[in-house]
Amino acid sequence: MIEGSGIEKSFRSRGGVLGARRVQALRGVDFAIPKGGAVSFIGESGCGKTTLGRILAGLETFDAGRLVVDGEDLSALKPKRREPVFRRIQLIHQDPYSALNPTATVEMTLRDPLSLRARQTDRPHSWVSSRATEVLEMVGLDPGYVLPRYPHQLSGGMRQRVVIARALTVDPEALVADEAVSMIDVSLRLGILDLLRRLRSELGVSILFITHDVATARYVGADGELYVIYRGQIIEHGATDKVIANPVHPYTQCLLSAIPVMHGLEEPGVDRLEPTEPLSELQAEGGCLFASRCPFVAERCRAERPQLMPVGDSGHEHACFFPEVRRVVATPIG
Ligand SMILES: Nc1ncnc2c1ncn2[C@@H]1O[C@H](COP(=O)(O)OP(=O)(O)OP(=O)(O)O)[C@@H](O)[C@H]1O
Ligand SMILES: [Mg+2]
Repeated sequence: MIEGSGIEKSFRSRGGVLGARRVQALRGVDFAIPKGGAVSFIGESGCGKTTLGRILAGLETFDAGRLVVDGEDLSALKPKRREPVFRRIQLIHQDPYSALNPTATVEMTLRDPLSLRARQTDRPHSWVSSRATEVLEMVGLDPGYVLPRYPHQLSGGMRQRVVIARALTVDPEALVADEAVSMIDVSLRLGILDLLRRLRSELGVSILFITHDVATARYVGADGELYVIYRGQIIEHGATDKVIANPVHPYTQCLLSAIPVMHGLEEPGVDRLEPTEPLSELQAEGGCLFASRCPFVAERCRAERPQLMPVGDSGHEHACFFPEVRRVVATPIG
């Protein structure tokens, strides 16, 4: 179980018309990723998704809050003891090409982490190559074909599979997939999403799926939890299916009504919603972060910031003073 509470992170941004200022990337984010669970974070560009993924993988520090992995508060641990915990949370990011060393064959890429693993677990060196074959087979690659090859000799989909195979060398507890299919040819995306689903069911690895695309979030973890994040704040959260079927926050509704209607098999939801204005970073702080774009904004929304509150007792939560279910998702006909 990986739990975050009150995670805050700001960056100093340089340049721009206003000169140096601070960007609040995460504003007190709470979440829980159960063992073997699927949790999705969705939100538009710049809302803080990657920052959260990097914090989870130990690649970024945070300013406030707690990160607890299997009951251990990581901030309380010395770096030497923190490192092995972070190693079990592996980040798969969008560009598999930059994640791999272009001068190393797949065999070389897998050998280092596996040799370390062999030493840590007192296994003979011969285990390294048999395990390399195993992890490649697990991700659907032909070891004979890929082991001697360099990243540029593989397709984008194969490269992302190699990245996932490398992540598996440490027997990870969780994979953080940050837009993991966005740079991959559309025809190969479904295969990677299926692979993540399979690793979850066969190995019990938890998946944290970061995306701006609701359809892929639903595909990977329909039985999991969905967190909708807007400018660094969680504004709606609950069981993925429930939130998608009955979104109550106007931002979630805008996000969901942007799902394309495909194949003529679906009809659009009754209420199509779009933000009234494009996202601007120069908004007054203090009120609801979504106020200036919200089609339903009221006086109170500009004066006070809503915090997460429950909808009934199902675990569904939202941060809106005027929540209302609107049917916005395309639904199959017949
Ligand atoms: N290293 C950094 N230095 C300065 N600002 C940063 C840094 N990393 C992120 N930011 C800022 O923090 C905010 C959140 O960025 P982040 O990359 O987490 O967003 P994101 O949701 O992943 O966006 P995208 O969908 O475009 O990948 C943005 O305003 C971004 O400009
Ligand atoms: Mg990102």
